[in-house]
Amino acid sequence: MSNMVRKANAFEILNHWVLAVTFFILAISGFGFLFHLEQMNSLFGSFDQMRVIHNYAGLVFAVSLFLTIFNYLPVSLIFTGEDIIWILKGGGYFSKGTTVPPQDRLNAGQKGYYLLLLLTGIAIAASGLIIWLRPMIADINRWVLLSHLVHNISFDVLLIAVPSHIYLATLANPGTFRIMVYGTVPLEWAKKRHARWVEKKGY
Ligand code: HEM
Repeated sequence: MSNMVRKANAFEILNHWVLAVTFFILAISGFGFLFHLEQMNSLFGSFDQMRVIHNYAGLVFAVSLFLTIFNYLPVSLIFTGEDIIWILKGGGYFSKGTTVPPQDRLNAGQKGYYLLLLLTGIAIAASGLIIWLRPMIADINRWVLLSHLVHNISFDVLLIAVPSHIYLATLANPGTFRIMVYGTVPLEWAKKRHARWVEKKGY
């Protein structure tokens, strides 16, 4: 199709699916542990099996999150004056007439979401690893209580952040979901939402 621009490459698309699928496995099994939901046995077989699946899905999630660093961290660390105005105007989401400054490959909200995801992801993965290793290393017992607290708080943050991200990447911004499937968007779509990026790329 003509006039399409690439916003995500094949690796980013694949890695994003790994992140999404492992997140849902972790969230569903996490709820199972939190509320001792016996019904989860119909999905995972038993609580022991659910624990094994949760732990290994956590490992894959952590590796997948680490791999996002190369594509998203450099752009997410730079907040320009235009980004600050975008934030002050709430991204234009709260009033129809509001115009927002041109944005880079990720808008200021996406940069904030990515940084939050990275920090929370590191916290949930590190605390999860300590809880997992508990039976093997006697000396880490004093860290285990703290790890449970960090694991649960990070889970709460992700339970708000990820559904918000999914809403913004689908219903709130029609045409965005195709990035997750094809990696491309129409040039007009990109000019409207990421004008600074389009300008830098010279499209
Ligand atoms: C089925 C659920 C999901 C959908 C439909 C979805 C959709 C999308 C889309 C369309 C983009 C591209 C946005 C753009 O480039 O303008 C994106 C980016 C991204 N997604 Fe997701 N996503 C989902 C789940 C997740 C999960 C579970 C995570 C991590 C826990 C995640 C992390 C990210 C990150 C870090 C980016 C790049 C930054 C951003 O665009 O906000 N996504 N997602």
